[in-house]
Amino acid sequence: MSIQISPLAESLPVFLKQHNYSAIAVLADANTKRFCYPAIKNFLPKHKIITLRAGEQYKDLTACEMVWQALTDAQFDRHALLIDLGGGVVGDLGGFCAATYKRGIDFIQIPTTLLSQVDASVGGKLGIDFHGFKNHIGVFKLPEAVLIDTVFFQTLPELELRSGFAEIIKHCLIADAAKWNVIRRRDLHQQDWNDLVAHSVAIKKNIVEQDPNEKGIRKVLNYGHTLGHALETHFLADPKRRLLHGEAIAAGMIAEAFIAKRKGLIEIGLLEQIEEYLFSIYGRVNLADADLEPVLTLTLQDKKNRNGEVRMALLDGPGSCTYDVPVTKAEMRRALDYYRT
Ligand SMILES: NC(=O)c1ccc[n+]([C@@H]2O[C@H](COP(=O)([O-])OP(=O)(O)OC[C@H]3O[C@@H](n4cnc5c(N)ncnc54)[C@H](O)[C@@H]3O)[C@@H](O)[C@H]2O)c1
Ligand SMILES: [Zn+2]
Repeated sequence: MSIQISPLAESLPVFLKQHNYSAIAVLADANTKRFCYPAIKNFLPKHKIITLRAGEQYKDLTACEMVWQALTDAQFDRHALLIDLGGGVVGDLGGFCAATYKRGIDFIQIPTTLLSQVDASVGGKLGIDFHGFKNHIGVFKLPEAVLIDTVFFQTLPELELRSGFAEIIKHCLIADAAKWNVIRRRDLHQQDWNDLVAHSVAIKKNIVEQDPNEKGIRKVLNYGHTLGHALETHFLADPKRRLLHGEAIAAGMIAEAFIAKRKGLIEIGLLEQIEEYLFSIYGRVNLADADLEPVLTLTLQDKKNRNGEVRMALLDGPGSCTYDVPVTKAEMRRALDYYRT
């Protein structure tokens, strides 16, 4: 699988020339159809466009059925290509639909959000949410290619850019202390996105290639995600308090850095740096007493757990991370309390 970071005007025609597909469909959501599809439309031969409703709440089985039906109606065979044009929702869902349609057709990812460029499109995790559980049903399968072009950020809402930035911060914290020292001295608007996208993709790709099925080292990518995912899931049900993925992960990274500090894995100075920078970019998620128990219970649903015990990826130094560290409910409660006060 190749990951290209270059203008789509170059990468897309080259990819299509190297393959001979019987049919092509583009999967977009309402926003990416409007803002991103015009940028690729002219580089494609005859194709079908399938449009999803935008948003995490539509990353579900109903949307999959619609996609499978559209492919069936258009009589797509096993030599067809699905192009996922959108953020992580379109990429995860579209990849899952392609991986399962007739036991699998080719798909490529054209990620259009910062988050999907530096995270979701790299690594082959595909899937959908199910009855309130995030990414509960899914498969591992790599796309034929990931074609990245940062031009799409021109229309991306700032909150989405900020959300994706959390994964860049995560990659620096777990793997590159020097880069962490560069980004933490700049605010969101001063960052060099072309440089950071390439940097993050390289880090994630390197980790994923060592451990594609997440048996070991890949688990470090889950730093911030045990509590982060629980927060994201908890607030999913309430439209007024819903968090973007990166906002939840930013909170998770602070709480989990606190746990690392308590366990003696990192120094207080690093915890303070993380806290200061993440609060300055993301603010503080308002957590009421009544939120704590449900959030803690949700961590038990985490796919990384074993035997009902929560295992976490925890920083063990600047630019370094360890994984499979058992963490008790009491430790997590203390971390959430630290975060919210
Ligand atoms: N597979 C993985 O390894 C992995 C990793 C991280 C996250 N994810 C998943 O990714 C999803 C989140 O991805 P996301 O943050 O990209 O969300 P998203 O796909 O919902 O996109 C965010 C919003 O931005 C809009 N949008 C996308 N590109 C745009 C553009 N260029 N201009 C204007 N609007 C645009 C979308 O329509 C949507 O409203 C979650 O479902 C998460 O579970 C998967
Ligand atoms: Zn993430």
